[in-house]
Amino acid sequence: MESSFLLRLVLLASALTLGACTAGCPSTGLKLNFYGSSCPNAEQIVRTIIYKEVEKNPILSAKLLRMFFHDCFVRGCDASLLLNSTSESTAEKDAPPNLSLAGFEVIDMVKEALEQACPGTVSCADTVALAARDSVSFSFGKSLWDVKTGRRDGNVSLLSEALVNIPRPTSNFTTLVQSFANKSLGVEDLVILSGAHTIGVGHCNLFADRLYNFTGKGDSDPSLNPAYAAFLRSKCSPTDNTTAVIMDPGSGLTFDSHYYVNLKQNKGLFQSDAVLLNDGAASKVVDDMVDFGAFLAAFRKSITKMGDIGVLTGKEGEIRKHCRFVN
Ligand code: HEM
Ligand SMILES: *[C@@H]1O[C@H](CO)[C@@H](O)[C@H](O)[C@H]1NC(C)=O
Ligand SMILES: *[C@@H]1O[C@H](CO)[C@@H](O)[C@H](O)[C@H]1NC(C)=O
Ligand SMILES: *[C@@H]1O[C@H](CO)[C@@H](O)[C@H](O)[C@H]1NC(C)=O
Ligand SMILES: *[C@@H]1O[C@H](CO)[C@@H](O)[C@H](O)[C@H]1NC(C)=O
Ligand SMILES: *[C@@H]1O[C@H](CO)[C@@H](O)[C@H](O)[C@H]1NC(C)=O
Ligand SMILES: *[C@@H]1O[C@H](CO)[C@@H](O)[C@H](O)[C@H]1NC(C)=O
Ligand SMILES: *[C@@H]1O[C@H](CO)[C@@H](O)[C@H](O)[C@H]1NC(C)=O
Repeated sequence: MESSFLLRLVLLASALTLGACTAGCPSTGLKLNFYGSSCPNAEQIVRTIIYKEVEKNPILSAKLLRMFFHDCFVRGCDASLLLNSTSESTAEKDAPPNLSLAGFEVIDMVKEALEQACPGTVSCADTVALAARDSVSFSFGKSLWDVKTGRRDGNVSLLSEALVNIPRPTSNFTTLVQSFANKSLGVEDLVILSGAHTIGVGHCNLFADRLYNFTGKGDSDPSLNPAYAAFLRSKCSPTDNTTAVIMDPGSGLTFDSHYYVNLKQNKGLFQSDAVLLNDGAASKVVDDMVDFGAFLAAFRKSITKMGDIGVLTGKEGEIRKHCRFVN
């Protein structure tokens, strides 16, 4: 009896160690099931609400996945993106790259439920990380990747930092690689995380130059598939900044590897997509990612790395009560 109890303790301890330290084992202090004892229902609360909201509104999954990216690339995954501007400073989400960021009300709704169940316990930063996972996972009916938790919330959000850290759709390959390297992400991660563009939309003004005035001579981008360019011109006038088109035509709501199929046919919507074909190493990864199983396995690893960027843990930062305001 007692020895079997001991054995179970040992098994539990090693399971915990293994769980907290999966492949790569970055020393960020995040771990699986961080709220296991402090708020046992936390992950289920997030999942239930997100599944319900995505079922009502399928485009939400793209919004929440992109929200996680923008949060992590500015000051780390600390929910700084959720903060409202104040009289003293203009927040990240009011920076031009915020174009069409959305889903903030859904995060508020989840956070409210979390506060009711476990006041002051679950961070907004973890809420965003879990919501991104669950929103993409909904259509599969099971979690597509594990999310380590234990992030805490920052209290600074600056428009200027969003401008420097969020890569632009017009970025060239060198700049993209640099911007990812700044976050300890490599070329592989760049290609694999760009696969997130398998869902969602992009606005005309962000690629209009590729259609109408690529080098300032009224030309179009020669690296863009001519038939696709003609299709895009039919959707987007040169000055249209309100229309949005599906980034992965044919499967714009489905999280699959079709992004890479399109990309290889020179149908990447943004220059930042198209340039992934220009580099030997990156283009090899593009080839590999056409297989959905390979993409999913790789995406799991890369988004876990993304979720580790600059996190606050332990006594750092705070657990915000309301995601739009510091306590
Ligand atoms: C490689 C650098 C990247 C650039 C330059 C970039 C740029 C953009 C731009 C310009 C849009 C369109 C926004 C709009 O017109 O409304 C967009 C949409 C999107 N991005 Fe990225 N992105 C990058 C990487 C990522 C990453 C790493 C993720 C997530 C892991 C991501 C997820 C998304 C999603 C899901 C959308 C669709 C949003 C919607 O439908 O509203 N992107 N991205
Ligand atoms: C936060 O800012 C948004 C606009 O970005 C605004 O709609 C909302 O009312 C603000 N929230 C509060 C509670 O002030
Ligand atoms: C995005 O920023 C603009 C100002 O550049 C602001 O008017 C708009 O409300 C912001 N959008 C969101 C969703 O915060
Ligand atoms: C890439 O873009 C950056 C910033 O716009 C520019 O300084 C650099 O010269 C470009 N690199 C190449 C290879 O075009
Ligand atoms: C990389 O980070 C440095 C330092 O924060 C910054 O000055 C630079 O603009 C960043 N480069 C890119 C491409 O994001
Ligand atoms: C094309 O770009 C050039 C150089 O930026 C600019 O002078 C010209 O006005 C643009 N043409 C159109 C039609 O926007
Ligand atoms: C979008 O276009 C309208 C009309 O063409 C213009 O008034 C507005 O400033 C543009 N907005 C942006 C963000 O470029
Ligand atoms: C932000 O949080 C840090 C602790 O992480 C604290 O020292 C600082 O005073 C806070 N600043 C504001 C403006 O709340």
